[in-house]
Amino acid sequence: MENFVSRITMLNVLLGLFLTLSGFHFPKQVEALGINYGQVGNNLPPPERVLDLLHSLRLTKARIYDTNPQILTAFANSNIELIVTVENQMLPTLTDPNQAFQWVATHIKPYFPATNITGIAVGNEVFTGGDTSLVSYLVPALVSIHNALVRFGLDQFIRVSTPSSLAVLEESFPPSAGRFRVELTRIMPQFLQFLSATRAPFWMNAYPYFAYKSDPNNISLDYVLFNPNTGVVDPYTNLHYDNMLYAQVDAIIFAMAKMGYGGVEVGVSETGWPSRGDPNENGATLENAAVYNGNLLRRQVRREGTPLRPQTGLEVYMFALFNEDMKPGPTSERNYGLLEPDGTMAYNIGLYVDSRTNEVKP
Ligand SMILES: *[C@@H]1O[C@H](CO)[C@@H](O)[C@H](O)[C@H]1NC(C)=O
Ligand SMILES: *[C@@H]1O[C@H](CO)[C@@H](O)[C@H](O)[C@H]1NC(C)=O
Repeated sequence: MENFVSRITMLNVLLGLFLTLSGFHFPKQVEALGINYGQVGNNLPPPERVLDLLHSLRLTKARIYDTNPQILTAFANSNIELIVTVENQMLPTLTDPNQAFQWVATHIKPYFPATNITGIAVGNEVFTGGDTSLVSYLVPALVSIHNALVRFGLDQFIRVSTPSSLAVLEESFPPSAGRFRVELTRIMPQFLQFLSATRAPFWMNAYPYFAYKSDPNNISLDYVLFNPNTGVVDPYTNLHYDNMLYAQVDAIIFAMAKMGYGGVEVGVSETGWPSRGDPNENGATLENAAVYNGNLLRRQVRREGTPLRPQTGLEVYMFALFNEDMKPGPTSERNYGLLEPDGTMAYNIGLYVDSRTNEVKP
């Protein structure tokens, strides 16, 4: 283990140097791929520098977990499309149409269109969060914020939704068995009706890592890492799944369809793999993180859809841009970053673009 890690680190340093010289970046074509720019660290670079880092990675989509004015200002007149977040504790206030109007007037309107805000995440994982009282405020807050955007003429540019964890599902496997938790059967149709009427996506935070971590003996590492493997066939649809992320996305689509909303788009608002963990956190290694994110990127280059919607490229936001040292919880929580706070790659994801031909190379 020790040897292995130091070997990877050494390789990483060498590749890092080589890739810097050869102009490492994500391929231009990866339009569907975004990244979550979390800020729970005391050593993160200023937003202006973050913008440079996003440019050098050739990423054009990012999500932040608030409406930090410094970031909104720094990202003006850049090519970055930004999703901002309404903090969970704001939901009760923002159910009031006047408060929602004020919120949009002060947090969105002054920055748009110079800063290309394309989405507002209203809360994060509210359906399954610790504070169950927030659930009843969610749909009214979504509606109020959307209506405020309409009044400003911004609704055709800015989508409003909320990211959900996979725990909204009672059943997720096989994907055709996907259905929402019983507690959510009253609220979910209202939420889906809102998404359908406003043509906003269902955003899910999906972490095959968690499934592997809790049951490493039964779950194939290759299946969760997008490596070649025999995969599984859904006995009801005969669709073949070679990775868990796509199975999770399709399980959400089936759950929505059972409520009459099978046409709503699904996007992955967060997915990732930690490069370090505590001794009991199975699978949290540099190598697995590099393989997961590298394979995901390869599929994004090919604009892959899921087996259920093969023609629709899946929009994915990786978690996360930086390792965030102030995050509470197990070691893995502070080690999801593609980058160290100093801007160097936390690991190499094994892809680069030939700067002459612009070809993606493994
Ligand atoms: C903002 O993003 C949208 C969505 O991709 C795009 O259509 C639009 O051209 C962008 N606006 C600017 C000013 O770049
Ligand atoms: C997981 O593996 C154990 C031991 O191999 C087995 O007893 C158990 O039934 C498996 N569980 C599932 C859900 O497959």
